[in-house]
Amino acid sequence: MPPAADAKKSAPSDTLTITDNRTGKVYDLPIENETIKAIDLRQIKVKEDDFGMMTYDPAFMNTAACKSTITFIDGDKGILRYRGYPIEQLAEKCNYLEVAYLLVNGELPTKGELEDWTNHITVHTFVHENIKKFMDGFHYDAHPMGMFVSAVAALSTFYPSAKRITNPEERKLTIYRLLGKAPTLAAYAYRHSAGMPYVHPDNDLEYAGDFLSMMFKMAEPKYKPDPVLAKALDTLFILHADHEQNCSTSAMRGVGSSKVDPFSAAAAASAALYGPLHGGANEEVLRMLDHIGSINNIPAFIKEVKEGRGRLMGFGHRVYKNFDPRATIIKKLADQVFEVTGRNPKLDIALELERIALQDDYFIKRKLYPNVDFYSGLIYQALKFPVDMFPVLFAIGRMSGWLSQWQEMLLDEDQKIARPRQIYLGQPKRDVVMLSQR
Ligand code: CMC
Repeated sequence: MPPAADAKKSAPSDTLTITDNRTGKVYDLPIENETIKAIDLRQIKVKEDDFGMMTYDPAFMNTAACKSTITFIDGDKGILRYRGYPIEQLAEKCNYLEVAYLLVNGELPTKGELEDWTNHITVHTFVHENIKKFMDGFHYDAHPMGMFVSAVAALSTFYPSAKRITNPEERKLTIYRLLGKAPTLAAYAYRHSAGMPYVHPDNDLEYAGDFLSMMFKMAEPKYKPDPVLAKALDTLFILHADHEQNCSTSAMRGVGSSKVDPFSAAAAASAALYGPLHGGANEEVLRMLDHIGSINNIPAFIKEVKEGRGRLMGFGHRVYKNFDPRATIIKKLADQVFEVTGRNPKLDIALELERIALQDDYFIKRKLYPNVDFYSGLIYQALKFPVDMFPVLFAIGRMSGWLSQWQEMLLDEDQKIARPRQIYLGQPKRDVVMLSQR
């Protein structure tokens, strides 16, 4: 091997030259898309029988686990695009099923394609009657997200052919089924916890309106969703539809990489979404606003957060370090919704909390801004959704993103079963001492 300086001179410019100071050896690693392949580091060894160099990256802070053509985010500039289209335009000009089509198929549908897609999803909104019995088994105060996760997993037992994931027609059918049934399962989870009879899907209604019907229909022969509220909910589904390699999507891809059926993988993704640092944050925001109670209590609450006693929920993001474009759209949407429903009194607390936090050094230094969850909960509450339904609403919107990412993973020849490495720091080999002698 030549010394590093000479190697730099002769190496092609799209390479990274690494000198291992333990051995003096120099390595040229190809750079593609501003990335080196972690596996190329394995040639770096001190002794021939060494395992080779690895990277240590807990929480995948700087590791790309896939190539993707679905969602683009520039966290510093606050940019979010699905398949190249800015989220602001999609939210304004499309409905959720159009966006779901875009995510899954790569292009916006023509009128005919959208009709066909919508029909296919609509005819799959009904669930097997046994799902109701399954739901009935849950305790009266079961969290709807727990019920949703379990019911999505249970679907795999109703549709065993979904295992045939290499068959494109079977994949398409499962995608229709998951998009069609997610709102039905979500509404059933709510109706069970409220002790109310389940409402069948109404296939005359559009996606969000039908969901509102399954949630809130009482004795009226036909539920008529308020168009402004149904549109607002549909827009919220669009804003939540995909967000590249977040925790739940990584779960979908990771679990799906074992080649399990997509119902099981989507259940794993929903479980990941349930956590308070991810899709459960919208629920926590409302609980936090309740806990703060009034504008006068905000300074004391901010002090607690800065002292490390809790977090300002709905603030901060792993990727967005300037603003979350979804939060900007949601803030505008909130005004339209409150015109119909009346103002949510917690909005004043939220606005003041945001104002104070954005002027505070603690939040400025750490680049903490309101994320998608900060204002979405206020809208959900104005739409009369109970707080523990909030993560379920997130899951309905995210289903299309999970499915498009899952399909992309399956068709990507670079992908194999997900299997991270570890650095073992435990005990060296030792012998078991019999219980009587310990
Ligand atoms: N309130 C107070 N401090 C915070 C917050 C917050 N919401 N978020 C981050 N910090 C602090 C954190 O304590 C740390 O401070 P220090 O450097 O002194 O230790 C610093 O900021 C960096 O935080 P981090 O936890 O290393 O950042 P992360 O990228 O690992 O976490 C996050 C991102 C979203 C999990 C985090 O900001 C958070 O917990 N936010 C509140 C929960 C929330 O709103 N989640 C919804 C995310 S958006 C919807 C979704 O896609 O799921």
